[in-house]
Amino acid sequence: MHRITAETASGPVAFDAEGDKKLVLCIEDHGIDILHRCGGNARCTTCRVEIIHGDPGPIRDAEKAIMATKDDMTDHMRLSCQVRVIDDLHVRVINQASVKGIDAGPRPAHEDTP
Ligand code: FES
Repeated sequence: MHRITAETASGPVAFDAEGDKKLVLCIEDHGIDILHRCGGNARCTTCRVEIIHGDPGPIRDAEKAIMATKDDMTDHMRLSCQVRVIDDLHVRVINQASVKGIDAGPRPAHEDTP
């Protein structure tokens, strides 16, 4: 288990998360309405989070490719649908359904998409 602290629109939320689980699912399963508009396929980037502290693990090709097309993504941001929890993390959730006024999107699968 790893300790996750997520900064949200309504303040910080801290919880324990299973190792190797997708970060976006950990966040959602603890009551935070994070956006994941493409269903976890590294296409929409709405699941982006800012990494404040901790090791989010390596960036794979699909994430690297979509991030390179987005001017508004900084080096401190990661796509939470592409991050497997391997460390305690302190993150800031950038997009929430309740803030944006849109549906969160289809729930990402536990498995990685090719
Ligand atoms: S990039 Fe779309 S849900 Fe992660």
